[in-house]
Amino acid sequence: MKGVILAGGLGTRLNPLTKITNKHLLPVYSKPMIYYPLQTLVDAGIKDILLVTGGSRAGEFLRLLGNGQAFGLKHINYTYQEGEGGIADALRLAEHFADREKIVVILGDNILEKGIKRYIENFRKQPRGARILIKKVKDPWRFGVVEIKHNRIVSIKEKPKNPKSDYIVTGVYMYDEKVFDIIKTLRPSKRNELEITDVNNAYIKRKELRYDILNGWWSDSGTSFDSLLKASNLVKKRDRKRQGKIKGED
Ligand code: DAU
Repeated sequence: MKGVILAGGLGTRLNPLTKITNKHLLPVYSKPMIYYPLQTLVDAGIKDILLVTGGSRAGEFLRLLGNGQAFGLKHINYTYQEGEGGIADALRLAEHFADREKIVVILGDNILEKGIKRYIENFRKQPRGARILIKKVKDPWRFGVVEIKHNRIVSIKEKPKNPKSDYIVTGVYMYDEKVFDIIKTLRPSKRNELEITDVNNAYIKRKELRYDILNGWWSDSGTSFDSLLKASNLVKKRDRKRQGKIKGED
């Protein structure tokens, strides 16, 4: 399966940190933010990867990542999103790369404690449609919120005032080849973006959206100064724990 990392957008919520650099190049504990979603894909065995970026610092990704040697990759594909048309607008640019294969998509600011291999395997076995990873959180109104009935997702609302559940959509999405036809039917939302939530709702309408509940902590590190700080602390704790295990301290 091919992988797509979406790292476009202007990151205005983190101004002035993002005034002269791209949000996904900011440090999260010991590494630039973009390292984490890239490592998540590589750890899951995904080697054919497209990075979608944008803004005035797009070239810095090439300087930082090159062909992905530091991740054991031979090659990374890059493409450029003009403006900030939304997550689905950025994904639209992956159509040629995907070449009608199934894809796994991860948002460039999403950091996960654990791997996603088993969910990708579930999607591999799924004959068609889409698969998302959901997570129970304390502040669901900040995200896409799912409504579940009889173990099926029946609706997703983007940042609702009155969330119908505590379960939200994380930034890991798996799609079959139909995703690009669906994106072509979308209209911009009130915030003038093509919404990934509208893509997922289209799959719900077709009764083709499945889900897994993500195991381990999850952080969308780029939405506020607090989320950036929290992500650094979570990564620090996780890496210390891993190092401890290697040294036999745990
Ligand atoms: O993190 C999970 C949440 O991500 C989901 O629960 C929401 O349903 C989904 O809409 C999204 O919400 P955010 O408001 O957090 O999305 P944000 O605008 O922060 O964009 C997240 C990433 O997507 C960002 O790090 C880069 C990429 N992106 C975003 C935009 C708007 C692009 O590549 N291009 C874009 O135009």
